[in-house]
Amino acid sequence: MVKAVVLAGGFGTRLRPLTNIIPKPLVPIAGIPLLQRIINTLPSSIDEVIVAAGYRGHDIEKYFSENVQNAPVVVVTEHKPLGTAGALWNLRNSMDSTFLVLNGDVVNSLSLSDMVAFHRSRNAVATISLWEVDDPTAFGVVRLSDGSAIAEFREKPSREEAFSNLINAGTYVMEPGIFEHMNHEHFSLEREVFPRLTDGQLHGFGFEGYWIDCGSREMFLNAQQLLINKEGLGIVKSAKMDGCSLNRPVAVEKGARLKGVRLGPNAYVETGAVIEEGSVIENSAVLSNASIGRNCRITGSIVCPGTKLEDSTVSDNQIIGEPSL
Ligand code: GTP
Repeated sequence: MVKAVVLAGGFGTRLRPLTNIIPKPLVPIAGIPLLQRIINTLPSSIDEVIVAAGYRGHDIEKYFSENVQNAPVVVVTEHKPLGTAGALWNLRNSMDSTFLVLNGDVVNSLSLSDMVAFHRSRNAVATISLWEVDDPTAFGVVRLSDGSAIAEFREKPSREEAFSNLINAGTYVMEPGIFEHMNHEHFSLEREVFPRLTDGQLHGFGFEGYWIDCGSREMFLNAQQLLINKEGLGIVKSAKMDGCSLNRPVAVEKGARLKGVRLGPNAYVETGAVIEEGSVIENSAVLSNASIGRNCRITGSIVCPGTKLEDSTVSDNQIIGEPSL
């Protein structure tokens, strides 16, 4: 029995106010909730998915009661935040063979089957996926030994402390033996557990393609652009588009109504949204049932579901709305 744990209990503070009413794992990105996108990438060898939820866990439970998945999904809701280590420790009695752990906010091209095969070939207690970035200071940075073993791990280093550009990409393969290196007091895998396994038990698996941590507005919009392109999304037939100019990539969902709008590049308009004449929507997401008046200029922004924007509103690099669904 191979299990996958998705860590989905964080507050998602960087995506407020959107996450005031939608937990980050259920935030739709190019039309599909993040958590659903992660589950869709799991190999068919996974026979149970455990979603470690916390903040707004009841929304996540409701989602899975309404949306049937290929593998059984169990939602375990924490009643206080346990952190990434505490969330796993909480599940220790269910883990009796190699298992996967995935952060609930990452979109990437990692092959999980390849990563599991690599992990097994190294006899590691845990293998973490690695990605190269220009600025590692917002992530966990790793230094590799000669081979694939991780010799040093430091969470969110300063510029001076950052000893490489290779970061923890948020997907792990683990053995139940990891629990011998943890206890009930541990809160953070990244700060308390990984740094203690740098004696050859922790390995790193690099991959190519793309990797986006969607936890911030900017990264959310980057991921949206990538997904619209990659999935060939566009204007659905039932969307009402009258006199709009399009600068692709753009996607518009069913029931949306747009008149005389300049849309794109990188615009996603969700179900039921209305945008009136003269408005410009660029590098932005307009979520379900939002309505945008005339002559608005929305750039680098996420308009929350149900938000109503008056004529001539300007939004630059914001998440707007105290959403009402
Ligand atoms: P920010 O508040 O914007 O930093 O977002 P976040 O709360 O989601 O934190 P972060 O992006 O660092 O979390 C990485 C992953 O771990 C996300 O998938 C979170 O849902 C998850 N996570 C963070 N804290 C907890 C926790 O206490 N319990 C569980 N089960 N998951 C958590």
